[in-house]
Amino acid sequence: MTRLLSIDPLHIDDALIQRAAQVIRKGGLVAFPTETVYGLGANALDSAAVARIFTAKGRPASDPVIVHIGERDQLDQVALNVPPLASRLAERFWPGPLTLVLTRHPSIPAIVSSGMPTVAVRMPSHPVALALLRAAQVPIAAPSANRFSRPSATTAQHVLEDLHGAVDLILDGGPASIGLESTIVDLTGDPPVVLRPGGIPLEDLRTLLPALQVQVRLLREDEDGILAPGMLYKHYSPRAPLLLFDGPHQSVVEAMRRTVLDMHSRGKAVGLLIASGERSSFDDLPALLFDMGGDLAAISSQLFEGMRSLDRQGVDAILVHGYDRVGLGLALWDRLLRAAEGRVIECG
Ligand code: TXA
Ligand code: MG
Repeated sequence: MTRLLSIDPLHIDDALIQRAAQVIRKGGLVAFPTETVYGLGANALDSAAVARIFTAKGRPASDPVIVHIGERDQLDQVALNVPPLASRLAERFWPGPLTLVLTRHPSIPAIVSSGMPTVAVRMPSHPVALALLRAAQVPIAAPSANRFSRPSATTAQHVLEDLHGAVDLILDGGPASIGLESTIVDLTGDPPVVLRPGGIPLEDLRTLLPALQVQVRLLREDEDGILAPGMLYKHYSPRAPLLLFDGPHQSVVEAMRRTVLDMHSRGKAVGLLIASGERSSFDDLPALLFDMGGDLAAISSQLFEGMRSLDRQGVDAILVHGYDRVGLGLALWDRLLRAAEGRVIECG
């Protein structure tokens, strides 16, 4: 049975946190808010509990999960030979949306890291997540709290949609503020490599890591920085196919408008994910509009809610366009590209 409990991040109810910590210590699953997305947590030291995460999500055993810690000192209990660079990054960016890949400590069971000798670790900044981690007194393994390949959960409602019955307790601490997952940096080789762009922009990381590389598989910079289709497996995807348009803004708007009209004429229901400033370019069309907000931070925080909302309204396709790939925009582009299974409609 799944219980949903509301918790105010600004006035944390300690009794609720103790109850959730107890579920974790007994080998149960607790979904909890973080500043990036909701996590589906289990005691990271308990391989049977971690196995339940994979079952609940329908996640392949080959996809490792992130270990969350609530204190800096816990890092040495989950990772071996923590390099000075990791300590500097932790000092600068933790608690916060940065995940470090390090050498796995023997106390962390192999299932957490899909058998790899490494472990991904982060200290989230959300007060509910920190309170839970500190009360549980064990590291918590937690992937995003969505069914595998679905858009990540940024509200407790999204967790319920995907995992009702499969999770023991959901702590509802309101919508996640960033709305995109953490940036993952692999520190086990030289130079450090970004495995996933996320909440900490690469520009910020480069102030401490000038040699930082970005994994080729993720962002194969062709002439125009576009990934070849088929390089990505389906991820972050709404049920309706996502059509990703890119190019000069005016050409993109015209192509999106033509596509809406064409699909509508064939009896299809179309949804559009747009920015606030673009309403007047689209609001005369026979389509459902979801306004993600006015700036990159708002758009990022509403992306997954937008996909899920249009899905709930039963659209046959979701149209969206790329945004500037700077700062948080790189993570936004990465999620759009994966949701579109690597296919981009080039305009103009
Ligand atoms: O913001 C986040 O990171 C959220 C919140 C809940 O903390 N978590 C999250 O987890 O996004 P998940 O499981 O959806 O994504 C974790 C990613 C996966 O792509 C996985 O392949 C990678 O982290 N990962 C985990 N352990 C790894 C390891 N040892 N080496 C390389 N990649 C790893
Ligand atoms: Mg995920």
